[in-house]
Amino acid sequence: MFVEFIFMTHNRFIPQNYNNTISKGNVTWQSPSNIALVKYWGKKEAQIPQNPSISFTLNTSKTITRLEFTEKADRSNFSFEVYLEGEQKDSFKPKIETFFKRIELYLPFLKTYHFKIDTSNTFPHSSGIASSASGMSALALCLMSVEKLLQAPNFNMDYFYEKASFLARLGSGSACRSLKGSLVVWGKHDAIKNSSDLFGVEYPYKVHENFANYQDTILLVDKGEKQVSSTVGHNLMHNHPFSKQRFEQANANMVNMKTILENGDLKAFIELVESEALALHAMMMTSLPYFILMKPNTLEIINKVWAFRAATGMHLGFTLDAGANVHLLYPESEKQAIMDFIKNELVVYCQNEQYICDNVGFGANEML
Ligand code: PMV
Repeated sequence: MFVEFIFMTHNRFIPQNYNNTISKGNVTWQSPSNIALVKYWGKKEAQIPQNPSISFTLNTSKTITRLEFTEKADRSNFSFEVYLEGEQKDSFKPKIETFFKRIELYLPFLKTYHFKIDTSNTFPHSSGIASSASGMSALALCLMSVEKLLQAPNFNMDYFYEKASFLARLGSGSACRSLKGSLVVWGKHDAIKNSSDLFGVEYPYKVHENFANYQDTILLVDKGEKQVSSTVGHNLMHNHPFSKQRFEQANANMVNMKTILENGDLKAFIELVESEALALHAMMMTSLPYFILMKPNTLEIINKVWAFRAATGMHLGFTLDAGANVHLLYPESEKQAIMDFIKNELVVYCQNEQYICDNVGFGANEML
């Protein structure tokens, strides 16, 4: 029943015949990373999330991908080469091959072309910040631009973004939240109209001005490769003793977040976002096998943030991804004082004193 329903809703992303034939060309997109406020952790078959999530789209942390396509004679296999910052990167190929296999049904031209994928990030690769979200969304958008060229004229741009998000999700779940901004919801929730398990949608309700140009300073505590891959992490939520409660909590937090976004209550915002981050890590600490993804410096930073907040009353809060790095979230109006605090007291906890200054952005752009 579930599989049938999913298949029916997938059907509209399977194209009929294309109008044009094109032998070669290239397209380029830049797409940002995003940071979840209510976290996605746990999925069903075909990258369907176990609970809805909402994220801020970032602005400066992004991936730029140029996709060159050339028609080939042999159509029995996928054929592509990948470059990162100009250097051939064969280690990326298995992930892209898996992605192509998953999306072939929806992009029947994939075996028609040889692809050269040229990608670069504005942030250090393997800094632990979500390069899979920006990378997979940029690639999905490039592929949709190829489809648009094959289908032109009259390509509906709402369909373009919906399908690009749908494809990005099949590359990396959270990637489907990177295409638009400033707030994106992924996962069906009755309180959010048009929300879907299949793709991200722009948050459709009023957002208080307190959240305009919200700041995210990312403290790079540990830049090593991820200790636990997302795939392994999500799978730990199957048979997890607290998964049911966690999914209920996330659903309830979506409703709470809607109220907070409307009334601009920053204290409640910080409480919800920090609780979500710690709940995510609690899930990892209580799974089997169990993991502690925070480092001692992650905790040092959290304690300093709490002390700073108690002493100044400023609205500095944190969130975490599935790693040790800390995203510091705060309103633009408090930027000066908080940046001084970060530089004077928190940078010492960062690896090589590295941090990234980002803020809320508005999604991906095609580079013509
Ligand atoms: O997109 P994935 O499969 O790498 O999962 C990412 C999950 C978190 O970043 C930990 C949370 C989220 O909602 O982005």
